[in-house]
Amino acid sequence: MEQRCPICSGGTYSEHIRLTDWLCQQFWQRAGPGLSGLTCMAFGAEKLLLTDANLEVLNLCKENAKINSKFSNDVKVQLLDWLYPDQLQAVPEVYDVIIGSDLVYDPDIIPNLINVLESLLTDTKQIAYITSTVRKSETFNTFIELLEKSPFLSFSTMDISEITPTVVHSFEQRPVVKLNIIAKKELDSV
Ligand SMILES: C[S@@+](CC[C@H](N)C(=O)[O-])C[C@H]1O[C@@H](n2cnc3c(N)ncnc32)[C@H](O)[C@@H]1O
Repeated sequence: MEQRCPICSGGTYSEHIRLTDWLCQQFWQRAGPGLSGLTCMAFGAEKLLLTDANLEVLNLCKENAKINSKFSNDVKVQLLDWLYPDQLQAVPEVYDVIIGSDLVYDPDIIPNLINVLESLLTDTKQIAYITSTVRKSETFNTFIELLEKSPFLSFSTMDISEITPTVVHSFEQRPVVKLNIIAKKELDSV
């Protein structure tokens, strides 16, 4: 979309689009940790728990929650390393929605990620959305195979490469991105 500016006849609105794109790139580079969770809060989620195994990432999550001070009272930030199942016991409550982006990249820790999903999805009304940039198809396939084998989880996979924002394309040359929608299996199908 490009409209000529009615005031400066030579300029066009495409400059606004370029500036917006640049601002989005800055935001995308700096505000990653917690961004999708905080976006859910902006869309009306009542409470949010941000987790990671990395303390630096957790500090950035805290900062991002503080900057968005409108939500900060309802945002908790907590250490959760999938390699230590006992840390799951510290998850304070059952959450309706679990989201995770770009978590499927190391085949060695995928079984732990599956265990975490099995532990957190305790009710068939809960749902998990896990997006994955497919860098190596073997790694993504390992995730799918373990989901298929799980006695507790059901799932479906969508290809969302086409709806990846343009700002990400400019960094990663249109990656293949998959969305897995995961839920606890109905009791009679276990
Ligand atoms: C590729 S980054 C993705 C970060 C962010 N979700 C995003 O989409 O920009 C993978 C994240 O998984 C976290 N991670 C890796 N191993 C983990 C583990 N054992 N337990 C919990 N988080 C882990 C890393 O600390 C990192 O923040």
